Amino acid sequence: MSIAAYLAFEPADEEAARQIAAELERYEWTVARSSPELRQSDRLAALVQTVGEAAVVVVLASNAAQDSTWMQREVAAALNNGRPMIVVITGPLAPDSWITATLDTATAIDLTRGARSEALSQISDRARTASGRGRVIAMLNIKGGVGKTVLAANLFAAAHLADKRSVSFIDLDPQHNLTQYFLSPGERHRIRDRNHTIYNVLNPRGDSSLSRNDFGAISVPLNRARGKQPNFELVAGDERLFEFTLDTRSDRDKAEAFTRFRALIASLRARSDAVVIDSNPCATFLTRLAITCADHIVAPVRPEKYSLTGLNMLEHVVREVRGRALRPSEFSVLLNGVNDRTRSSETGDADSLTRNEIAAAPFFASALLQDEVPYSAVLRSAPSERIAANPINVTAMMRVGGRPAKESLARAAAAILRRAAPQ
Ligand SMILES: Nc1ncnc2c1ncn2[C@@H]1O[C@H](COP(=O)(O)OP(=O)(O)OP(=O)(O)O)[C@@H](O)[C@H]1O
Ligand SMILES: [Mg+2]
Repeated sequence: MSIAAYLAFEPADEEAARQIAAELERYEWTVARSSPELRQSDRLAALVQTVGEAAVVVVLASNAAQDSTWMQREVAAALNNGRPMIVVITGPLAPDSWITATLDTATAIDLTRGARSEALSQISDRARTASGRGRVIAMLNIKGGVGKTVLAANLFAAAHLADKRSVSFIDLDPQHNLTQYFLSPGERHRIRDRNHTIYNVLNPRGDSSLSRNDFGAISVPLNRARGKQPNFELVAGDERLFEFTLDTRSDRDKAEAFTRFRALIASLRARSDAVVIDSNPCATFLTRLAITCADHIVAPVRPEKYSLTGLNMLEHVVREVRGRALRPSEFSVLLNGVNDRTRSSETGDADSLTRNEIAAAPFFASALLQDEVPYSAVLRSAPSERIAANPINVTAMMRVGGRPAKESLARAAAAILRRAAPQ
């Protein structure tokens, strides 16, 4: 994918669109735009594909846009595919319009006021920031217990220590194992009392809702080694997140939670190389949040029968959420727990059976990483409370680990970050 911006606009805003396109092209962006050729009912899939793969989507908001079904479809495609969006106001907007309800118009660029050249350069600046910097990586498998949580922590701890990568974790699983992995019970309570968990981010109103201005300040630093370190931080999980997996929350709450989650992601992306989301092993509203925001999906698999079934189901769910055909390069499949000597001999050579089965699968063959993670006592057990409570200790974690596990984690993490980089 070359650097591509998608310009969504109505014919009434043609002149503004022309100026914005010219501005972006001046900075070497390839610009795709709304056109009668793309906006055809029998070619909807092609439109979703184009919008869903754009590095950034610029939405021209006006009364004409407000009344357009095509504009709604383009915005939905951008949202479902987690594309960064820039809203540009080109005319008056009704306060109750779907545009104000769905998009963040508070940070919109207003083309109807002030010097046009200034607004245009603001758009190209914003496009550069939105498409650059951190990649959002979701740990995902519909199958449970495959190592999503333990690998999220250890792969990216390895990337942080070995390659100085800055990392922001988001614990989006109501079971919040990742938070338990990194923080002591005392710390978890303090964070919860301060209303600084992901639940407070998702909650749009009431006492346990956090102001959007505070989203940038709630992550807990995990690497507390002395001296200036690249970020290694966590937005803590919360068991009350289960409310968002049931039908107890209204559609309106969920829509607002979605917008708020996107705002959190935007603030973390601006300061970290990788924003890593750990999610729950099923397909719920929370899974949808993770899928829509992810640039790349890491699916750990265990060497066992039916691993491919779980992967195929994952592909299906992601395709459904994004509403378009997927490319294997959007995934990394990581074989986890190989060379397990504790396994009974009856299982036979499960490692190579699983590897061969995935390598022969039509979609996932080219997503399977060469690197694999061995079965290891360090990954089996959570760091003891002592280690977790001890000013982190990714370092301690890495020190106690066996060398093969450490090296394979660092290699696999580097391979994932290469695959997640813009193509
Ligand atoms: N390579 C490994 N070697 C040894 N044990 C491992 C390895 N990977 C994972 N485990 C262990 O397997 C169990 C499940 O791992 P983990 O909790 O990370 O899976 P998960 O996919 O996050 O599960 P869930 O779907 O419940 O969220 C944990 O006890 C973990 O310590
Ligand atoms: Mg987990």
